[in-house]
Amino acid sequence: MIKIEHLTRDFGGGRGIHDLSMHIPKGKIFGYIGPNGAGKTTTIKILCSLYRPNSGRAFINGLEVTPNNSKQIKKIIGYMPDNFGVYDQMSVWEYLDFFCAAYHIPVKQREQRINSVLELTSSKHMLDYQVISLSKGMTQRIGLAKTLLHDPEVLILDEPASGLDPYARIEMRETILRLRDLGKTIMLSSHILPELAGICDLIGIIEKGRLLAFGTVAEVTRKVQENLKITVMVDSDPKPARELCEQFPGTGSVDVTANEIHFIYTGPRGALPDLLLSLTGNGVRVMEFREDHADLEQVFLSVTHQKA
Ligand SMILES: Nc1ncnc2c1ncn2[C@@H]1O[C@H](COP(=O)(O)OP(=O)(O)O)[C@@H](O)[C@H]1O
Ligand SMILES: [Mg+2]
Repeated sequence: MIKIEHLTRDFGGGRGIHDLSMHIPKGKIFGYIGPNGAGKTTTIKILCSLYRPNSGRAFINGLEVTPNNSKQIKKIIGYMPDNFGVYDQMSVWEYLDFFCAAYHIPVKQREQRINSVLELTSSKHMLDYQVISLSKGMTQRIGLAKTLLHDPEVLILDEPASGLDPYARIEMRETILRLRDLGKTIMLSSHILPELAGICDLIGIIEKGRLLAFGTVAEVTRKVQENLKITVMVDSDPKPARELCEQFPGTGSVDVTANEIHFIYTGPRGALPDLLLSLTGNGVRVMEFREDHADLEQVFLSVTHQKA
């Protein structure tokens, strides 16, 4: 649905984005994650035909993003910028009606359209509110409602949860999941990793304009984690098991707490079942044998070389 090939936009001094490639299939939520200034908004603006790339290509639904195609692309995409202006002197209804007009939605269909986007964003009660009176969370919801007016297949949301309180963030997450269930393809960016990552089917981690990792959360975690953290739980004296673990090639220093043995393993993953066989073959009663996964936050810090 969204395809990027070797996309580069150079702002000089190493700023911009460099040789980005990725593919986001239809109906997926893609989380584009990276620190401020990494290049998320630049990528998004190229996809929305607001910036031209220096080189490389981008496709939405098979259609190349070029000035000639920009009208068609805009029909497919719903874009919510990170900082969108709201027109303070309007009610929510007037605001949405104004954008219906901008999208050339026939007058007869507007009421139904507005009601449907307010429903999707759980904002029906705000219909008559003045835009100026809206909280940040409400503004984001109305911004999203506006983005949905022309029923786009692809949603591109730049930092949709930024500045939201935890409650509003949960609301935003639920709305995004609801939209995915309707079959929309969703790209969202965030400089705060755990903010929305929990709902993403795919994530990409970008820093200084370069894509450092791309894939499912599990794939990215696995790729990033050089050393596996293994825990073996036994039901009795851990001593014999400890010795067997220590003798196994690839095992680093071994720690024991109660009946759990923990160690870092640097050997091939495929050899781990042999360790389990050796334990059980030597009479060790193994309750649990597991790989401890780093959480996403650790992965992010490790990929972007930031300190916690
Ligand atoms: N129009 C522009 N002119 C010059 N530099 C820009 C422009 N837009 C973005 N940049 C630079 O490109 C880098 C990436 O910016 P941006 O895409 O906004 O990052 P993010 O959205 O990840 O915070 C930053 O260093 C920023 O200063
Ligand atoms: Mg940005």
